Amino acid sequence: MKKMDGKVAIITGAAMGNGKGIAEVLAKHGAAVILADISDKVFVVEKELQEKGYDAMAVKMDVSDKENVTAGVRKVIDKYGKIDALVNNAGVARLANFLDMDEELRDFHFNININGVWNVTKAVLPYMKERQYGRIVNLSSVTGTMVADEGETAYATTKAAVMGFTKALARETASYNVTVNAILPGYILTPMAESIAKESNPENPQEVIDGIASGVPLGRLGKIEEVGELAAFLASDESSYITGTGIVIDGGSTLPETVSVGV
Ligand SMILES: NC(=O)c1ccc[n+]([C@@H]2O[C@H](COP(=O)([O-])OP(=O)(O)OC[C@H]3O[C@@H](n4cnc5c(N)ncnc54)[C@H](O)[C@@H]3O)[C@@H](O)[C@H]2O)c1
Repeated sequence: MKKMDGKVAIITGAAMGNGKGIAEVLAKHGAAVILADISDKVFVVEKELQEKGYDAMAVKMDVSDKENVTAGVRKVIDKYGKIDALVNNAGVARLANFLDMDEELRDFHFNININGVWNVTKAVLPYMKERQYGRIVNLSSVTGTMVADEGETAYATTKAAVMGFTKALARETASYNVTVNAILPGYILTPMAESIAKESNPENPQEVIDGIASGVPLGRLGKIEEVGELAAFLASDESSYITGTGIVIDGGSTLPETVSVGV
């Protein structure tokens, strides 16, 4: 018996990066996985997972569009009749210093990273409440909740908001056996991390990645499968007494008390 046998899980932003890793690990643990993403690449991931023998269904969805989300969730209910777990993973990050950040770029982050989590949760939760069972896992970050770098005001604000949302919602849903938790990744090697590296050093993004790795106590960036295993734990019955909390997965990157100065 695998820990997600018989469970139906929606993973947003599943076309690449953490979402793809989470979907594959949940499927490996026995879940039927719904891959929700704005990108057509989600159909490639659906095919890949089906070829591995997993139950996977792609739903093209823009999490920032309420109607679109409602229609997508309806399709899932029509096919599976229930939703056991929701992983709110879809997210965006673009660097810009605060004084250069226009409202359009700010709202781009807010609409996907905050309103997206809000919209999908709002559409899914009634089905969980009805069955008195559910697991909601939100992708926050160490950014905004613990640390931050230049250019991250919009992104950091959204990730702190996701943590606040996680706690407040957990309080409300506990009475109907729905747990709500957050994952706080540090540096995970995904297309998002690669594009941030490219933004900071277009000539040599690999140098940025190597530099980051050397500052992480475990000496490397995290893998999407490692985030997937944590998500699977929080999305399964194994985490039944955990709610309203955030779990850091960062290879120790937020740990150092003394900054090394090249010695
Ligand atoms: N990679 C990291 O180091 C890191 C660290 C901390 C937190 N996170 C969080 O993990 C999550 C995933 O990040 P990632 O690094 O895998 O990013 P990524 O850019 O590699 O992938 C993000 C996915 O979200 C999808 N997406 C974007 N906008 C969407 C929308 N409007 N509707 C539906 N799907 C949409 C994209 O198409 C893509 O498939 C994000 O919430 C991010 O904040 C990542």
